[in-house]
Amino acid sequence: MQLNKIKQQISLIIDGSNTKEEKLQAICNYLESEISYYDWVGFYFKNGDKNELKLAEFTGEPTDHIIIPFGKGICGQVAVSNENFVVQDVSEQDNYISCGWKVKSEIVIPIFVNDENIGQIDIDSHTANVFTEKDEELLEFTCKEVSKIF
Ligand code: SME
Repeated sequence: MQLNKIKQQISLIIDGSNTKEEKLQAICNYLESEISYYDWVGFYFKNGDKNELKLAEFTGEPTDHIIIPFGKGICGQVAVSNENFVVQDVSEQDNYISCGWKVKSEIVIPIFVNDENIGQIDIDSHTANVFTEKDEELLEFTCKEVSKIF
């Protein structure tokens, strides 16, 4: 992974003149096309005052899981824990919401604005045991950049 090049591209998207929604969609599209094992890339955000997440922009197969209650699945757990969640093998998770039989691993990184967890980036992969510290570094960077447009 060419970490610096990818980070630069993320910053270019954030610093551009598009709308927030266009920037989030561009990040999804870019990451999915740039990194071969990123098969689904999406953003979930806290749904108003409710203790639930709502799907925003994404790239990949459509999912039924538009709304995810806090605490449910990998995403809902990150909404509560405020910590990265790297799942190398989804079949080993009890509290997991499947978005298709092809998905083998998943990484979810929270987005903070003024220390508040406002949402997250969620990546699914069709390959197990594929995520490394480089993915966490890249996605933490991406989430920090995204926080600037909120
Ligand atoms: N697998 C997630 C649900 C969202 S989909 O991956 C798009 C979870 O367990 O929270």
